[in-house]
Amino acid sequence: MSAFNQEQVLSVRHWTDSLFSFTTTRDPGFRFVSGQFTMMGLEVEGRPLLRAYSMASANHEDRLEFFSIKVPDGPLTSRLQNIREGDTVLVGRKATGTLIADNLLPGRRLLLLSTGTGLAPFASVIKDPDIYDRFEQIVLVHGCRQVAELAYGEKLVESLRADENFGELISSQLIYYPTATREPFRNRGRITDLIDSGRLFADIGQPPLDIAQDRVMLCGSPSMLADLRTSFQTHGFNEGSSNAPGHFVIEKAFVER
Ligand code: A2P
Repeated sequence: MSAFNQEQVLSVRHWTDSLFSFTTTRDPGFRFVSGQFTMMGLEVEGRPLLRAYSMASANHEDRLEFFSIKVPDGPLTSRLQNIREGDTVLVGRKATGTLIADNLLPGRRLLLLSTGTGLAPFASVIKDPDIYDRFEQIVLVHGCRQVAELAYGEKLVESLRADENFGELISSQLIYYPTATREPFRNRGRITDLIDSGRLFADIGQPPLDIAQDRVMLCGSPSMLADLRTSFQTHGFNEGSSNAPGHFVIEKAFVER
């Protein structure tokens, strides 16, 4: 049996010159926990060309969604960005990854800190009702250089707020904080600075960082992850894994090419 399922592209949306998202069919046998990733890509010259991609769809949805960058000369994304409805993509049969709630100690507030396409696993996490049972408050922070790059997240949160079944839960428990670093926007600055200065918590009207209450998932640029890891460790936070749940978990945003 092949390690991949062939899935059909159902829709494609281009957000900026460098970002797009798409949905596909989902093999009924494909199981994942919100926040996990799998290998995904295209058959090129008779061979699978795959990269790790987080599922941006909820684990209860009957379609899959992915959020990707486009790199002009990237072996996969230069091709993948041209997919259209009806095309076939390859999706791994297995999912894995550390950004799952079971890898965290119990807590009251969950901080989801992302840059760029590092938002993708959190798009899945915030659509999972289980996360709202585990945590009283979910704070989704998404940092990008340009305002236009925030659009996928803005639309996602907007549609969840408007959702008949989910809307109420979202309004009372999800706080969304998009921030731009290189253009004027209502929230400005790097996630690292927003946390270190306490600005993030002041802006959202929430108590400051507290190791007794806060659990953290990090996903995005390697340099942001390195800086935040150091910063959280300085505050006494331990990194969690499937062997030993901790205060925070980390995954890089995978697709760079
Ligand atoms: P900045 O514009 O100040 O570099 P990139 O496109 O390079 O992956 O960056 C995505 C977002 O992550 C940008 O807003 C960028 O801010 C921010 N970023 C990059 N490096 C860090 C870091 N070490 N700490 C916090 N934010 C970072």
